[in-house]
Amino acid sequence: MMAAAAMTGLLAVSALAGCGDKDAAGGSDDGKLVMGFSQVGAESGWRTANTNDIKAAAPAAGIELKFSDAQGKQENQISAIRGFITQKVDVIAFSPVVTSGWDAVLKEAKDADIPVILTDRAVDSQDTSLYKTFLGSDFVKEGKEAGDWLVKDSAGKTGPINVVELQGTTGAAPAIDRQKGFADAIAANPNIKIVKSQTGDFKRADGKTVMEQFLQSTPKIDVLYAHNDDMGLGAIEAIEAAGKVPGKDIKIITVDAVKDGMTALAAGKINYIVECSPLLGTQLMELAKKVHAGESVEQRILTQETTFTQEQAKAALPDRKY
Ligand code: AHR
Repeated sequence: MMAAAAMTGLLAVSALAGCGDKDAAGGSDDGKLVMGFSQVGAESGWRTANTNDIKAAAPAAGIELKFSDAQGKQENQISAIRGFITQKVDVIAFSPVVTSGWDAVLKEAKDADIPVILTDRAVDSQDTSLYKTFLGSDFVKEGKEAGDWLVKDSAGKTGPINVVELQGTTGAAPAIDRQKGFADAIAANPNIKIVKSQTGDFKRADGKTVMEQFLQSTPKIDVLYAHNDDMGLGAIEAIEAAGKVPGKDIKIITVDAVKDGMTALAAGKINYIVECSPLLGTQLMELAKKVHAGESVEQRILTQETTFTQEQAKAALPDRKY
């Protein structure tokens, strides 16, 4: 019997498949390039913006999109990808929930001659021929920029600076890399110490719950480093409920720069945000056309990003699209 999760993944794919299934000759019924895309889920504002961007970019590029939401589960992504292989889509793209455990299904796609594009998150497969390219951010750099800001902000201060860290989904590339980049950067100032570190799964509700626990168990918290805006925003609720002032009593650094995060930054509740752009859709569609046409593409394509102080957030907010 097929596992429930696998069934869910397949149903999600077929429900969203709509018309235009690939015909025996290898194109869609109406001649469009067909992309199967497996999304992580809907865990954050970033993810919603990323999904909306991909869904808008596909028709704009004349590509038929079969979109599947894995609801945060790797097994759903694997069954969605298998579904795309069965349907003989032209290109498969996905944002892997976690880094490990993809070799078998990627090999199946390769054997079926369907090119795979990684977006947003990496896999740890040693065999890089299993995918054509990886489009997304440098998460280590993001973590480093967060840490560099804290090192600068702490210059001249004496005594320990206690940091609590809200990590992203365990085993996900952005959680692993943002932790590393930050830890490497703060090593420049031995006064800065990470005193607590726990996952909040990139979700606002989990960020709030874990921050409540941090506040109860840790007498002195100077800084919160949250791997995304949503967890930081959840933590702000916990900090305010504990009678403390976010951005002042506890300094807050986050990653993403979605509208809600930028609003909190402009209001002084967050101190610094490192941008991670979710707007990958247009580039993804261009890459899909190229790999489908057999053109060579760069193995790694980095997203352009910046950082925001409170003043910069005030200036950027009116034009923020997501
Ligand atoms: O992989 C990108 C990360 O995933 C974003 O920073 C986070 O908000 C999302 O859930």
